[in-house]
Amino acid sequence: MVEPFSVPSPWVIAHRGYSGEYPENTMLAFRKAMEAGADWIELDVALSLDRQIVVIHDDTLDRTTDLSGPVGDFTFDQIQTADAGSWKDRSFAKEPVPDLWSVWESVLKSDLGLNVEIKSSAYESEPKGLPIERSLVDFADSKNAFSRTLFSSFCWDSLARIRELSVDARLGVLIGGETPDWEEALELAFRLNAFSLNLSSSIASREVVEKIQSEGFQVLVYTLNSTEELKTGILTGADGIFTNYPPRMRSLLT
Ligand code: G3P
Ligand code: MG
Repeated sequence: MVEPFSVPSPWVIAHRGYSGEYPENTMLAFRKAMEAGADWIELDVALSLDRQIVVIHDDTLDRTTDLSGPVGDFTFDQIQTADAGSWKDRSFAKEPVPDLWSVWESVLKSDLGLNVEIKSSAYESEPKGLPIERSLVDFADSKNAFSRTLFSSFCWDSLARIRELSVDARLGVLIGGETPDWEEALELAFRLNAFSLNLSSSIASREVVEKIQSEGFQVLVYTLNSTEELKTGILTGADGIFTNYPPRMRSLLT
């Protein structure tokens, strides 16, 4: 079986699955990413009202489902009744919001790796129940999944909690938006013994990529989609690139 942490770089990381053509963060998009030759799949997770893990990017259900309101205002069962496909195209009607455990298990059966990005909204400084980080680490532990999983977050407290819970977890420190300072991120990466720094393409110059790599960390860059963007990203020497169009990137590498 292929070890996803050992595949040649740059890794083709399907951002929210093959989300350029299929509804993001759905089983359909993940399956299509596998068929399209991605090395890794990235997805986003948040908590439902009843503290189940929901695979979704936004803090609300509005953009990607037919429900409306904050993810945390709905139970998991309610969210699973939503149509998460029609917004992309009517032909994807009724594609559900997937269950993380099913996605993870199907990725574990493949040669791909899974990047679980914990949304900042899911981090609780004083957890009101089982923290999301505990659920994720327990699952990875029970499935022997640490060697095929990368946990990442813009919420560095969430990464610190994962590290407290597991020495085996591989961590990606996300940089951009709310956490723009890559030098600060580098310090954190040392403290947490992280695997990678995951950089916004806006700051991922060749120089920055090389500097971070020379400190012993991998560099994964998000999110590059056009052929031009992908070519530029590949030339930075990044170890992996998040893209909504995995076949496009794959064809540039072959
Ligand atoms: O993990 C890379 C990328 O997914 C981070 O940004 O907003 O697309 O989750 P976002
Ligand atoms: Mg993401």
